[in-house]
Amino acid sequence: MGSLIVLYHSQEFGNTLAMAEAIAEGAKASGVEVTLINTNEKRFDVEQFRNFDAVAFGSPDYWGYIAGGLKVFVDDFYIARKSNRQGLIDKPYGLFYSHGGGGTVLRPFEDLFNLMRIGSKVGKTIESYGKPDNSVLKECHELGRQLAETTKR
Ligand SMILES: Cc1cc2nc3c(=O)[nH]c(=O)nc-3n(C[C@H](O)[C@H](O)[C@H](O)COP(=O)(O)O)c2cc1C
Repeated sequence: MGSLIVLYHSQEFGNTLAMAEAIAEGAKASGVEVTLINTNEKRFDVEQFRNFDAVAFGSPDYWGYIAGGLKVFVDDFYIARKSNRQGLIDKPYGLFYSHGGGGTVLRPFEDLFNLMRIGSKVGKTIESYGKPDNSVLKECHELGRQLAETTKR
C-alpha cells in the first residue's frame, strides 16, 4: 500500500486543517495510507519523511510567506538532504494554502518548494480564501486522489 503525508500548518481558524483533511480523505478513498501532521503542534522529524511515497504541503499565508512551522521543515530538509538524499527526494508533491484576502504567498510558496527539488508537482496549487467552501474541498479531495495514484505507479 502506498503512503502519503499531508504536512501542513494550521493555527488560526482551522482553514488549512480542513483542506488537509479533504486531501487525506481523497487519498484514503484511493486505498492509500495517510499521515496528517500539523507543524503548529510539533516539529516533524525530517528523517521520518523518508517513509512516505508522496506528500501534500499546506500553509496559511502569514505576512505573504509560509508559516514558520512549515518553514522549519523546509530548513531541516535542506540540511538532511545535504548528507543523505536517499528517500528524501523523487516524491510527487502537491501544494495548498489558505489566506485572509491577500494571498500573496502563492508565488513564494511555489518557488520555495520548486527550489527544494523534492520531485514532480502534482496538480495546481489549491487556494482558499478563508474557510474552504465545497468547491475548494472538492479540489482538495481530487488532489488527494491524484497523489494516491502516483504511489501506485
Ligand atoms: C500572523 C498572521 C499573519 C497573516 N498574514 C496574512 C497575509 O499576509 N495575507 C493574507 O491574506 N492573510 C494573512 N493571514 C490570515 C490567514 O492566512 C488566514 O486566516 C488563514 O486562513 C488561517 O489559516 P488557519 O485557520 O489554517 O490557521 C495572517 C494570519 C496570521 C495569524
